[in-house]
Amino acid sequence: MSVHRFPVSFVGAGPGDPELITVKGSRLLREADRIVYAGSLVPVALLEGRKPGAEVHDSAGLALEETHRLLRDGYAAGMRVVRLHTGDPSLYGAIQEQMDLLDRDAIPCEVVPGVSAVFATAAALRQELTLPDISQTLILTRMAGRTPVPEAESLESLASHGATLAVYLSVQRMEEVVSRLSAGYPPHTPVVVAYRVGWPDQVIVRGTLESIAGQVRASGIRRQAIIMIGDVLGARDRDRKTRSRLYDETFSHGFRNGSADT
Ligand SMILES: C[S@@+](CC[C@H](N)C(=O)[O-])C[C@H]1O[C@@H](n2cnc3c(N)ncnc32)[C@H](O)[C@@H]1O
Repeated sequence: MSVHRFPVSFVGAGPGDPELITVKGSRLLREADRIVYAGSLVPVALLEGRKPGAEVHDSAGLALEETHRLLRDGYAAGMRVVRLHTGDPSLYGAIQEQMDLLDRDAIPCEVVPGVSAVFATAAALRQELTLPDISQTLILTRMAGRTPVPEAESLESLASHGATLAVYLSVQRMEEVVSRLSAGYPPHTPVVVAYRVGWPDQVIVRGTLESIAGQVRASGIRRQAIIMIGDVLGARDRDRKTRSRLYDETFSHGFRNGSADT
């Protein structure tokens, strides 16, 4: 008798708040026979809704071939296998190499997106990241660590745009981040460092490019934090003149006739 097989599901867990997983991701977790989850940043509460007997494996101490064996053997046995990643799996999740091995072994997979730390931080701040008169661009990046970053994407060159910018995986080198960003942003530019957004021990530090390194040092934050910089983060403190055209009463669009549409 042939075994019915399910594609391996890479699921975004969201940043910490267990309610920030998608409806689809939540269903796949409840139905899973085997869950392989990515260490300390995945909320354990998400695993509590699993069905009786479902296996749970923390991938924190496993090498790529070991996690692959869990996915491959689970698939071959007809298990529903979920590979659970923090935030959105497509960002710094090392999922491509896992999918390459699945492709090599002709194992189908799917990806279910999640809420990335940058968006959870914007929500915690109650802050739009794209304001018409300030920045319409969001850059997501990191500093090089053991993983290299292409030279053309150095923080200095990205900073030259003056756009809203989020730096993952880099808070442990805060002084260096500040010094590199200073190549493009003036010293008074607002900066936010958000630690474990959505978790009970969340901490948000607000400062400027010239103050933030000292504030972060004093707070003791050394990991699991995202750094955000850009003038949008200070917009509440200013008298902004420009509003979006979308809700402007003189602006026409597909769902409304206004008196002007330029
Ligand atoms: C391996 S990356 C994974 C990113 C994840 N895929 C995402 O979309 O958010 C881990 C980094 O994401 C950021 N991060 C993840 N969850 C976070 C949270 N709840 N609060 C603040 N930063 C977070 C931190 O910069 C952390 O070092």
